Amino acid sequence: MGVNGSRPRGFNGTRYAHIIGWGVDVPEHVMTNHDIEKLVETSDQWIRERTGIHERRIAGDRDNVVTMGVRAARRAIQRAGILSHEIDLVIVATSSPLHLFPATACLIQDRIGASDAGAFDVLAACTGFIYALGLASAQIKAGMIDTALVIGTETLSRLVDWSDRSTCILFGDGAGAFVLKASDQPGGVQDVIMHADGSGADHLYVGSGIRPTWDGEQTEQRIDMNGREVFRFASRVMSAATEEITQRAGLHVEDVDLIIPHQANVRIIQAAARGLKLPMDRFFVNIEKYGNTSTASIPLAVVEALESGRVGPGDRLVLVGFGSGLTWGAALVEWEVEQTPGSVMREAMQEAYYIFAYVRSFLRRLFRIVETVVFKSHRVKDNTRKRRRGPDN
Ligand code: ACO
Repeated sequence: MGVNGSRPRGFNGTRYAHIIGWGVDVPEHVMTNHDIEKLVETSDQWIRERTGIHERRIAGDRDNVVTMGVRAARRAIQRAGILSHEIDLVIVATSSPLHLFPATACLIQDRIGASDAGAFDVLAACTGFIYALGLASAQIKAGMIDTALVIGTETLSRLVDWSDRSTCILFGDGAGAFVLKASDQPGGVQDVIMHADGSGADHLYVGSGIRPTWDGEQTEQRIDMNGREVFRFASRVMSAATEEITQRAGLHVEDVDLIIPHQANVRIIQAAARGLKLPMDRFFVNIEKYGNTSTASIPLAVVEALESGRVGPGDRLVLVGFGSGLTWGAALVEWEVEQTPGSVMREAMQEAYYIFAYVRSFLRRLFRIVETVVFKSHRVKDNTRKRRRGPDN
């Protein structure tokens, strides 16, 4: 909120949506290509040459999309220097939700104590993070909210058929989060485009059938993919979406400092570079470490680009992705970090708030149990009374 509770507006009434916090979380367990050689007939050399992937992270028993999403969110909140109850909206993009419902966003909202926030999931496969960024920034720019938390979190390793060498080599687990905040200063998420073509739905989907998991258990779901078709589609739309979003802003692709693409296959990124006639050093690539982490791949890449100094103040970025659906989209971002000055005191307050959120959630659950017991005993008493009086009384 601005002064006197009013929403911050520039002198001409324009609101901007700045990314003021970011954080990631990846599981500790590293699975190398050599580890996959033990599961299916493949080789480290084939995987490196055909995909660019060297290793990926695999979630352990204690990790899931909520635990990783919470850790990424907490890092983003700390970086933003805000308190979690200031968040108005939590959007989680995930292709591997813990449940069909409730939304993973609600479970994360509860754990981080975003008690005043609405929360929902976006299901747009690997393009989900771009879609979520579009929804959050549009809400902020329209003046409906001030602060949003956008998370991409995945445990695709639990959907992969570990006996299918054409898919099990590709995917990995992880999470990334952004905090977006309203500002009257130009910059931030400038534009987002979202596209879909459901006629290609059968090229990449989660189907059913009992399959082995990587650690020898059984799963009832598996990712089915027509790799060649997805490859062709992705190579085309990555360059088309980048061109479209730059043209909409009256720019040329050469005006973009860094393109941060969805990390699915380095050859797809190379094809996009050829299509745009740009050198590969204008693209950020970290696929070698994580493989394809679906909705987490773009925030994982953005945060690494920031931490390695590839992105700095004033830089113009295009984030571009594609995925099952088929879906694709892009975001144009001016990296101007307008930040609430964080302080040790504020950080300590937020830490205390996480404990408060935990206790609050526990008490609410307890209250519901007590309420149910009391309500039930009242009903039993009422029914006994009615039975004693007879059916007509
Ligand atoms: N190891 C060794 N050989 C393999 C492997 C493997 N892991 N996988 C396939 N092969 C073989 C095939 O059997 C085939 O052999 P054949 O010629 O005797 O039939 C040969 O390699 C070539 O197969 P292609 O499918 O043509 O291989 P390609 O070069 O296309 O690479 C890949 C396959 C990596 C899957 C590629 O098509 C790809 O990356 N596609 C895009 C996938 C993608 O991005 N999906 C995620 C979308 S995001 C989302 O929403 C989740």
